[in-house]
Order: sequence, then structure tokens, then C-alpha cells
Amino acid sequence: MSHVSSDSNSAAFEHLLSSTKATLHRIAQEFTPAVFASSLAAEDMVLTDLILRDKLNITIFSLETGRLHAETLGVLDKIQQRYNYTVTLFKPEQSAVDEYVKANGLDAFYNSVEMRKECCRIRKVEPLNRALAGNKAWITGQRKAQSTTRTALEIQEEDAAHSMTKFNPLADWSEDDVWHYIRQNDVPYNPLHDHGYPSIGCQPCTRAIEPGEDIRAGRWWWENPESKECGLHVVDGKLVRVKTA
Ligand code: ADX
Ligand code: SF4
Repeated sequence: MSHVSSDSNSAAFEHLLSSTKATLHRIAQEFTPAVFASSLAAEDMVLTDLILRDKLNITIFSLETGRLHAETLGVLDKIQQRYNYTVTLFKPEQSAVDEYVKANGLDAFYNSVEMRKECCRIRKVEPLNRALAGNKAWITGQRKAQSTTRTALEIQEEDAAHSMTKFNPLADWSEDDVWHYIRQNDVPYNPLHDHGYPSIGCQPCTRAIEPGEDIRAGRWWWENPESKECGLHVVDGKLVRVKTA
């Protein structure tokens, strides 16, 4: 995977960066309490660096599904070492996991889209609801260019499902922009990104991609592109996407 940046010092990048910083500062001032959902992947490390270097009043949490790669969990230590910050972890209800595994098997998500979504519901969506409860806004690292399901993404949206504002501060960033920021600021990142994994989710549901493949081709690779969302950003099959700014 090439993480080389094209327009490294372009005015366009500096403009993008300063508007992203302004968005994060505005969230920390006007939307408290606010939380940032980090998958610990590259985009989320850019946001982590921006939040922690300016000591913004935004809590960073991660959904620890119980099926993450060891390399992904290792990023938690890197954040601790670099920023002296402990990411809050939200884990699935053990009884729900046990029931699913007993009834269907540990890896039943390969059997059907329904089984896959049920596993994501237990391991990600329900813990996300707990993580978001009581907050005024949440932040994600989603980008428009990541997927056909994300082209209409807005930087600020009204999340009707969770009754709060949702921010995607990197909506307009390219993959090159992300890697340019990481290189320029020596931001720690998941080593899997250097081994063919541009997009990283749970270990059994993520594979490396070949050169030329779509960046999300390795996520739930056995499914159609339209079903490839885990439910964190989808409600009843519909994206909650109400533009507010
Ligand atoms: S997913 O919906 O397909 O899993 P993706 O991996 O692209 O999402 O990540 C998009 C955004 O969803 C991340 O930038 C992050 O904000 C949030 N997210 C995804 N997985 C997690 C996780 N395990 N913990 C916290 N946030 C997550
Ligand atoms: Fe389960 Fe895979 Fe979804 Fe992780 S990504 S919660 S292992 S179905």
C-alpha cells in the first residue's frame, strides 16, 4: 500500500486542515458533552491527534467487539504512550454474545447478511448506544470517498436515531490527505495499514486487499457493496442524514 501524499504542502490541504480544526474546536465549545467514536484506524488517528494535541474537551471511546486484531488493540497502548490518554472501551453484553454463539456458532456471520448484522448489532450497535447516551454530539472518522454508501456524507448531520448531532469532520478528506497528516505529524497508527489493510474492522470480517481493489473491498468481502455497513451509521436500512449546516 502506498501512503505517499501527492499535494503535501498545498494550500488546499492547509485550508482543509484549518477548517477541520475549527469544526473540532466548535464541537468542544458548543456541543458538550461530546464523544468521538474511534475504530483506531488511520482516519480516527488523525482525529485523535487533533483532539489530544489541543486538549479538546471531547471524550474518545472505542467499541471493543471482542473480535478485533491484536494489532488494533495495540493502538490503544500507542495512544497511551504517545498522548498519556486512556481510550474508554465499550464491550458487548457477555450474555448476548454467549446466546448468539450457542445458538448459531462463533463465526455464524459468514452464513447470511442477517446473521452478520445480528452479530454487529450485539458487538457494535448496542454498545454504541450505551457509549452515546447522555451526550450532545458524537464524532466519526467517516469520509465521503470511502464508500458508495458515504458519498452524501455531511460534516454536520442531525442523527435522529440517537437524538443528537453527528459530526464527520473528515468528510472531505482524501486517503492521501489522511496519510499526509499522519506522516507530517508522526501520528502512531495500526501496522496492518502497511500490510494491505486500508480499512480495518473485526479480524474475521476484514481481509487484505490487492492493488487496484476498492479500499473497502476487504470488509465483509463475501457481501454486496450495498450491505457493507455494520449498523453504526445506518438505521432500519436508511442512512440518517439530515443536513444542518
Ligand atoms: S464501519 O461502519 O464500516 O464499521 P468504518 O470501519 O468505515 O465503519 O469506520 C467508520 C467510522 O465508524 C469510524 O471512523 C469510527 O468513527 C466509527 N467506528 C467504526 N468501528 C468502530 C469501533 N470499533 N469503535 C468505535 N468507533 C467505530
Ligand atoms: Fe461480528 Fe464481524 Fe460485525 Fe465484528 S464485523 S461485530 S465479528 S459480524
